[in-house]
Amino acid sequence: MKKYFHIVTYGCQMNLHESEKIAGLLSELGYERCDSLDNADIVVFNTCCIRENAENHAYGNIGMLKKLKAAKRDMIIAVGGCLPQQMNKAENLHEKFPYVDIIFGTHNLHKLKEYIAAKQHGKKAVIAIEEGDGVVCEGEPADRTSYPNAWVNITYGCNNFCSYCIVPYVRGRERSREFKNVLEEVKTLLSDGYKEITLLGQNVNSYASPTDGVRFPELISEISALEGKFRLRFMTSHPKDFSEDLAKAMADSDKICHCLHLPVQSGSDKILRAMNRKYTSADYLKKVELLKKYMPDCAITTDIIVGFPGETEEDFNATLRLVEEANFASAFTFVYSRRAGTKAAEMPDQIDAEVSKRRIMQLIELVNSQTRVYSAADVGKTVEILCEGYDEKRGLYLGRTEYGRMGYFASENNLIGEFVRMKVNQANGVSLFGDPVE
Ligand code: 5AD
Ligand code: SF4
Repeated sequence: MKKYFHIVTYGCQMNLHESEKIAGLLSELGYERCDSLDNADIVVFNTCCIRENAENHAYGNIGMLKKLKAAKRDMIIAVGGCLPQQMNKAENLHEKFPYVDIIFGTHNLHKLKEYIAAKQHGKKAVIAIEEGDGVVCEGEPADRTSYPNAWVNITYGCNNFCSYCIVPYVRGRERSREFKNVLEEVKTLLSDGYKEITLLGQNVNSYASPTDGVRFPELISEISALEGKFRLRFMTSHPKDFSEDLAKAMADSDKICHCLHLPVQSGSDKILRAMNRKYTSADYLKKVELLKKYMPDCAITTDIIVGFPGETEEDFNATLRLVEEANFASAFTFVYSRRAGTKAAEMPDQIDAEVSKRRIMQLIELVNSQTRVYSAADVGKTVEILCEGYDEKRGLYLGRTEYGRMGYFASENNLIGEFVRMKVNQANGVSLFGDPVE
């Protein structure tokens, strides 16, 4: 009899990729992927805790499984990742949802098979959270779902302790994979037909290979020297570590996409200091200038938080000014969320929700107006799209430009995994629409 798994993923690309590793482990146990909770023999929630709403979302969905579990007592429910890794959260989860069979953290995903076996051998509930800085696992199977893109971890964890951020507490200290292992993995992916490699780390710029000391600019130059046509992307870059060497390495390569996600978080120097970001708004703008010097076409995207404790109207206006000056291709905007255990959670002057809401609306409006100008400038141009899927609703193929813009086009042929040249006829917000050309 066939057995099925279903994985629900919350949060960032790191989690998306970890869900591929979970899928790889479950496939080794003989489970097959299925699209619905109802048919699954094992359900895994791979959770996020970066903001409160990510947690609440997971709680809501885990809560909804109570009925299904009562009807299907053999179904295994596992909850893993960042949420249970937080202090005391695994115990809380167990109390709140006693029907959850396995609770695991961020440092022991690779032991999931053991936990499933323990559960199947009659153990009541497995609660397995490991502390410490985790291991660097190599050779884990991955059942990838993002073709033609492949995610590749280069670092795990984070040492930066931005005062609002829970990541260093749930993912441990930063550690880098060996250069030769990263290179081997990329080579295998390219020979398997992947067309885009996205290197992942909380701060890829501080990558340092343990035994040979290879640093990030060299890593990406070596990868981009590999044979064949493919795109190379990476995220995330901390502005304090973004160097001229890296800008040069990006400019010199025809494989590395001319786009960079460079989270600024705020335009106020007072707030940046309180956030422990270790740069000023002027430092940040200098990095933007540096990037544009080497790559005038570079699309710079960012993350911005509004409503950080102590943020005044003046501070917020400084953020708006920085956004105007940096002229971002697009930006992710967030309302500050108080995370227990972080420094900022203890700071005075937490900002009223109504004030944050007004600020984020104003910021989104500004960011969207910049995005629209970039998209409109593409109308009439021919852009290269790496086709990544088919949008059933629109009846169109879709994929991204080198700069991260989504492009849609019609085709009789299945072009997923192909580079397609598209003449842009129309732009709508962040999306481009056009026709394939020779
Ligand atoms: N509240 C709001 N946004 C946050 N981020 C990280 N922690 C928080 C928080 N506590 C945002 C930052 C980061 C992105 C991944 O999430 O902007 O760059
Ligand atoms: Fe969080 Fe800062 Fe580390 Fe990014 S660099 S994961 S925002 S602590």
